[in-house]
Amino acid sequence: MPHRICIFRWPLLLAVAAGLSPTAAAQVADDPPAWVLTSADSLRNSPLRHLPASERRDSLGTALKLLELDTAQQHLLTGHLHHREGRCGGYFAFESRAEAEDFLARERSLQALLAPAGSGYTIDNAATIEPWFPQVAEANIRATIEHLSSYQNRYYASPHGLDAALWIHDRWAGLAAGRSDVQAELFTACTLCSTQPSVILTVTGTELPDEVVVVGAHLDSIRSGAGSNPEQFAPGADDDASGIAVITEVIRIALDSGWRPKRSVKFMGYAAEEIGLRGSRAIAESYAADGVNVVGVLQLDMTNYHVGVAYHLHFISDYSNGPLLNFSRELFDVYLGSRGLQRRDLACGYGCSDHASWTAKGFPAVMASEPGSPTQSFYPGLHTANDTLGHVGGTAQASVPFAWFALAFIGELAKTGAESGHPPLHVDGFESQD
Ligand code: CO
Repeated sequence: MPHRICIFRWPLLLAVAAGLSPTAAAQVADDPPAWVLTSADSLRNSPLRHLPASERRDSLGTALKLLELDTAQQHLLTGHLHHREGRCGGYFAFESRAEAEDFLARERSLQALLAPAGSGYTIDNAATIEPWFPQVAEANIRATIEHLSSYQNRYYASPHGLDAALWIHDRWAGLAAGRSDVQAELFTACTLCSTQPSVILTVTGTELPDEVVVVGAHLDSIRSGAGSNPEQFAPGADDDASGIAVITEVIRIALDSGWRPKRSVKFMGYAAEEIGLRGSRAIAESYAADGVNVVGVLQLDMTNYHVGVAYHLHFISDYSNGPLLNFSRELFDVYLGSRGLQRRDLACGYGCSDHASWTAKGFPAVMASEPGSPTQSFYPGLHTANDTLGHVGGTAQASVPFAWFALAFIGELAKTGAESGHPPLHVDGFESQD
């Protein structure tokens, strides 16, 4: 992928070279028309139901609609999915009909769901994982959410959305200081992502560097009804600053401990999720084209809303790989269940979040999301001015179990290299086989 990952392509390169700051140099593009794939059910219930659309199916047999939408129509669809269906993503966006048809022709969701368990889906690395757990600090997660929700927005086509991405890049790179085996990059090879890059932090594996574990969250935010206004107020504290904040805390703890995984681990902040899973699709397609061996993907989208229910985390049960989902449930039970925490499953529909981009390209992926409330699976203020930390009690406590889970996920899926320097540690009930 190196030829696909570069820092500042397009006009920015020239402007930066001319001495302008990246922000000042940002050329904020208008949203162009896009071809959209969404579920037939979603379209039928939306204000766009009378538009001409082609009927398609994905490899799972889900009835889909393919249609061209102008900017205003894209925002109508986004608003419908967010407010009427109460979910985050909900569709894929493409530059052209041909690109959408090609995506469908190469769609591999069935293969992704049925892919057998990899050899690494074992649970035997408590020696690495258990010492990480007490280090998860709610205050750190809260501080990252506070910072990311302090931008006017993280909209993909706004200078603020670029600034936020660059901040995440610098923050993650700072956590990797002194580690020559860890690289922070901006992924800009996304033609539909305007000026917003995705952020990737790679910890190169010591023994199986070509086998890749991915943990991701989307870094953009959006305000329903604001159209493509680059000054829209879209704090996006829960959606999805919380997911980025969990990942940031996971990176801090894992790297602080001197962790050197056998497999490569890539932490990702995706651009432009809210407007058709654009950043994650660009990355997943790039990896598929390059034959990257992705052994497991964890998506964290909305982790900080937990009111009045006894369980602590939802696993999204559709468009997820069966063996990886079973592994994740077992992982939860071993490491979090033993601490009295509970989980539930939840179906989220077509194109729900960035895991769907990986699934569509044939890679095994799962998604974990907040427990919600007795009546709302997701924070009801998503994509509004009310998505602030203050509206969920000013605390990131609900996100702490997600950091524990993500640490267990990387600790078990990537294991620990022999040269990690960790002394063997026996924890009752677990045997490390590293
Ligand atoms: Co989201």
